[in-house]
Amino acid sequence: EKGGYEHFMLKEINEQPRSIADCMRGRLDANNGRLVLGGLRDYMNKFQNADRIIITACGTSWHAGLVAEYLFEEFARIPVEVEYASEFRYRNPVISEKDFVIAISQSGETADTLAAIELAKSKGATIFGVCNVVGSSIARATHAGSYTHAGPEIGVASTKAFTAQISVLTMMALKLGYQRGTLSENRYMQLLSELETIPSKVEKALQLNDKIKEIAAKFKDARNFLYLGRGYNFPVALEGALKLKEISYIHAEGYPAAEMKHGPIALIDEEMPVVFIATKDSSYEKVVSNIQEVKARKGKIIAVVTEGDTTVKQMADYVIEIPETEEAFVPLISVIPLQQLSYHIAVMRGCNVDQPRNLAKSVTVE
Ligand code: F6R
Repeated sequence: EKGGYEHFMLKEINEQPRSIADCMRGRLDANNGRLVLGGLRDYMNKFQNADRIIITACGTSWHAGLVAEYLFEEFARIPVEVEYASEFRYRNPVISEKDFVIAISQSGETADTLAAIELAKSKGATIFGVCNVVGSSIARATHAGSYTHAGPEIGVASTKAFTAQISVLTMMALKLGYQRGTLSENRYMQLLSELETIPSKVEKALQLNDKIKEIAAKFKDARNFLYLGRGYNFPVALEGALKLKEISYIHAEGYPAAEMKHGPIALIDEEMPVVFIATKDSSYEKVVSNIQEVKARKGKIIAVVTEGDTTVKQMADYVIEIPETEEAFVPLISVIPLQQLSYHIAVMRGCNVDQPRNLAKSVTVE
């Protein structure tokens, strides 16, 4: 059942070219400029005219929500708030019928997310679910939704569900932007074509596995890790840190790279590995300066960069080169080496990768 892999997590990491393609199948047809999300059809009007989009989720799904904040605001120009379900449900939030709420959950059973949905529903908001498990409680509690179609995820650490969530949210953002006219026809077509290339680029990124294993061997005994990124790669930094914590029990923190100087920089010495996601995008130059700041303090730098990068290569101790894509789609690729890094470190430390201590696949208690 593990398809020849040693762990479900590794199988699921490697399934991503296919699970992302499955998620887009029948929905995206770039050649004909078609993008159809069945679940959205009856609610498109509400979505398009929403005053605000509220995204609620927990854990990795919350990180997918953060990526979606960047996507929705960039392409559709609707303000977005991303809320931890556990906070949202207890703080008497301001919600109205003009709000479009998106709940993201792999299992569809997370108690806090379910409660957040019920609360928003009682205030008259429209609730849209992005779930993986068909017929789950959250899928049933929402007004409408789009399944992620990633297939069963067995490893406790979420991998393919995360990229499938981002794929659905990306399609939603593009559709919304196009319908609202905030995305021009040309740009829309360009983005659709690029989105179709993502599964093959993920496939290419997966081939870096051996290189990442070597990096893992160097850092498996580290006691702490920092993950830094900006823009679309900020949520990826959070996700990379969460993956490492969950399965290897190494303390890790993700930060927006620019926040480093407001505190975490005090932690940097020759013992501290810092993973930078430094792809060629609008914040590249700024991230390069952040890398310099870490280097000046002798931190060990592992950098995820765009293929062909030369600047960061000269500064970093280890570089991982991933295929180039549209800035907005980078998380789908940049998260892959971080999943692999945490996997290999955990295996080398003898951890139970698929069933880490203290964690359950679905959190049905608050
Ligand atoms: C991370 C992880 C958890 C879940 C969180 C939400 O790898 O597995 O952080 O992402 O418990 O679960 P779902 O998406 O099922 O609501």
